Amino acid sequence: MKFFVNVIIKFILLILFALASGTSALPLKDAFKDNFQIGVALANRDIRNSRVTDIVNIEFNVVVAEFGMKMANVLPEQGIYNFTWTDEFFDFAKENGQVVVGHTLVWHKAIPDWFFLDAKGQKLKRDQLLLKLQRHINTYVGRYRGQVLGWDVVNEAFNYDGSFRNSPWLEIIGEDYIEKAFEFAHQADPNAELYYNDYGLVSPKKHASVVALVKRLKKKAIPIHAVGIQGHYSLTYPDLKALDKTIARFANLGVKVMITELDVSVLPFPGPEDRGEDAEINVARAQQLNPYPEQLSEEAMQQFTNRYRDLFRVFLKHSNSISRVTFWGLTDAHTWRNNWPIPGRADYPLLYDRALKPKPVVKALLELIEARDSYIHL
Ligand code: GLA
Repeated sequence: MKFFVNVIIKFILLILFALASGTSALPLKDAFKDNFQIGVALANRDIRNSRVTDIVNIEFNVVVAEFGMKMANVLPEQGIYNFTWTDEFFDFAKENGQVVVGHTLVWHKAIPDWFFLDAKGQKLKRDQLLLKLQRHINTYVGRYRGQVLGWDVVNEAFNYDGSFRNSPWLEIIGEDYIEKAFEFAHQADPNAELYYNDYGLVSPKKHASVVALVKRLKKKAIPIHAVGIQGHYSLTYPDLKALDKTIARFANLGVKVMITELDVSVLPFPGPEDRGEDAEINVARAQQLNPYPEQLSEEAMQQFTNRYRDLFRVFLKHSNSISRVTFWGLTDAHTWRNNWPIPGRADYPLLYDRALKPKPVVKALLELIEARDSYIHL
């Protein structure tokens, strides 16, 4: 009975939402249901904000935590877990029929320094750190066993030139920390999908290292189900042909591809965009690089819409290999791109504007999927 009441309430909300927002009544997740799942990243406060959740529950069928599932949030003190928010997040998803992707288990950021130290403040040895990681993964992944779709097991392990990124994981354990993390995650939840996630994967050397990683894992029969291509993009980056090839090459390895963390910046990027590095520039220059402090120009909005349309053409071409496209946030009011790579700018990378109204891009994506035959030729 409760189920039917929920379905009816959702249906009414859907109609009201469509009327209020002026969008087509077709939610994105339904429009793309034959192609891939449509996900969104949520900030911790988002799940308690009904203006956001009303939209999220209609448009998306996968949710990812922007910050809430990172180690710093679940393990704030040595040996003391805090699952208050993560439990709430899983309850939220369950109530609203979404699946959760866990982001992320092993990363060089959002991890307390003490994780790598013993009680006396001495740096852990390889075996000690491996044991600590295994216990952590058992506790964390084990807690949500059977409830997640999958985990971003390792995030951003390679540099632009394809070398291993320096981190305490690499320094203390060695290059096989990645394999170990996948093994531990599989032991903790044998049914969860396991992913490697990174940015800049169109860059040939970085791409080659991730290809080699996937092959290595497969050769050792360690499960890896998909590669997450972080889509922190712009009006000009990446080159669409390069993206097309990148997706195809990963798919040829027999893993799924996910476009994770999608956002399309409309702002000028200082320095080479493919390296994804933080910018260090002075205030005057930063202002020059902030052309739309109040409002996006119509011309830029059109370029933005066109760019999303072009990106989705590529994604749709590969819809047999792509399992999910996840937007890194819902609204321009809250996006890390307002502060990266330069702090304090006004960017416009997402589908909903600062007033939580859908931008023209939403309609454009729905029209694209209706015109199915237009996307197969690049
Ligand atoms: C990376 C991480 C994400 C997030 C973004 C910035 O892409 O994978 O978790 O921190 O940076 O928001």
